[in-house]
Amino acid sequence: MMRSFVVERMTMRRISLTEGADLDGFRDAVRSLVAVGIPPEAVSWELGAQANLFGDTEPVSAAPLRLPRKLGELIREVVPHRDPERYGLLYDAIWRVCGGQRDLLEIASDPVVHRLDLLARAVRRDIHKMHAYLRFRKVEGGPPDETERYAAWFEPDHFILEAAVPFFVERFRAMHWAIITPVGSALWEGTELVYGLPGTKADAPGEDGFEAGWTGYYESIFNPARTNPKLMRSHMAKKYWHNLPEAAAIPNLVRSAAGRVSGMIEREATMPAKKKPEGALAAMLDQAPTTLEELNALIRAAGPLVPGATQAVVGEGPANATIVFVGEQPGDEEDLKGRPFVGPAGRLLERAFGEAGIERRDVYLTNAVKHFKFDQRGKRRIHAKPTAGEVSHYRWWLMRELELVEPKLIVALGGTAVLALTGKSVPITRARGPAKLLEDFAGFITVHPSYLLRLPDEDAKAAAYAQFVQDLTQVRELGAAERGGRSHAAA
Ligand code: URA
Repeated sequence: MMRSFVVERMTMRRISLTEGADLDGFRDAVRSLVAVGIPPEAVSWELGAQANLFGDTEPVSAAPLRLPRKLGELIREVVPHRDPERYGLLYDAIWRVCGGQRDLLEIASDPVVHRLDLLARAVRRDIHKMHAYLRFRKVEGGPPDETERYAAWFEPDHFILEAAVPFFVERFRAMHWAIITPVGSALWEGTELVYGLPGTKADAPGEDGFEAGWTGYYESIFNPARTNPKLMRSHMAKKYWHNLPEAAAIPNLVRSAAGRVSGMIEREATMPAKKKPEGALAAMLDQAPTTLEELNALIRAAGPLVPGATQAVVGEGPANATIVFVGEQPGDEEDLKGRPFVGPAGRLLERAFGEAGIERRDVYLTNAVKHFKFDQRGKRRIHAKPTAGEVSHYRWWLMRELELVEPKLIVALGGTAVLALTGKSVPITRARGPAKLLEDFAGFITVHPSYLLRLPDEDAKAAAYAQFVQDLTQVRELGAAERGGRSHAAA
């Protein structure tokens, strides 16, 4: 990359950085300035000019600075802000830290630290808004055999495109898409992320067939009791509304909210109260669901990460179950029937449940990954293990699911479930038994039933099955103890 700064050998040094988040230019400039001992008050930071405007000056090459990690992170967060003073403020902090004030960032009352903190927060908020309110729409009119393409228009407040885009790659890895903004664009075609020129709203499609789906979905999950226009505005400035297909439904929904609330109050009076996450309307607009139905609608709408699955297979069981079992991913039969654990592994699990005194209808069964992934061999679809990246893609949904069910005990069936719950790979034979999987929940690790199905030796299979039943018996007892000894099965 071309160096985008110059240091003038005059009393006042002018540093010219390119407009936008010029992290490379800033870093090189800071190294040079610190190396030749130029204090912040002798530096003027200029934006948007070309480096060659200062043809009579030369950059000074210098070694990297050793900065505290926290300051490095702050620099990365603040540089994308639009505030023209950001580089001056950052250099002030860097200069003082290099001068020996290593704990400067701990002094929250320091005016520079305080301003930098506000800038970093604004950038984080902007990134969060882009993640929550950007909507892809289908690009029509491509060649019929070409992969479907999607594009989204978004107007961030700051230069956050590069900081925000990896989230979309992670979420929509299987799609081909472009994100267009007034300060640059990003193109993803399945393998490589390419940054390009700015665009205009007209470069992205306006409406597509999803529009009605989004609006219908939004209407179906809209809870009028949570209508609080002030809260809504504070979480989503009106400027984002035009970008959201579902926003078209908001005015009508708000208008009819009062009547719907009284209807809901009458209906809910007969329903047991259940603790729900706070700030539900904001959360819903951020696509954080507040019921299992909302969650499942989102999982279905998101589609498979890897193409091929017939449908999403969501969790099944009582929404307030004491025990949740987490498997790996749906298999062939689950994919066709749309229900978890209904194939060979599920049948073995049910048999072992029976011997351990667990009723399938009393527990909640779900999977780390919600879509079947397979290799096609002739007419057969052979289960393919999900990668760690795929497991992490689905983790957000799994965590919301567990928060909503709020079980007393979570049972990980096999290594993929442990990975999804803890982020770590562990050998099951060593970790087997009660385990800390997630804060706030008791946990238990055991083998996956398909491991038993795969064992080639009948004696080994019988021994492993007996041990599995023993594990499940312990699970039943733990569940009963966590629930206060009122186990249905043990009664
Ligand atoms: N294996 C799993 O992990 N889950 C299912 O739903 C079926 C098989």
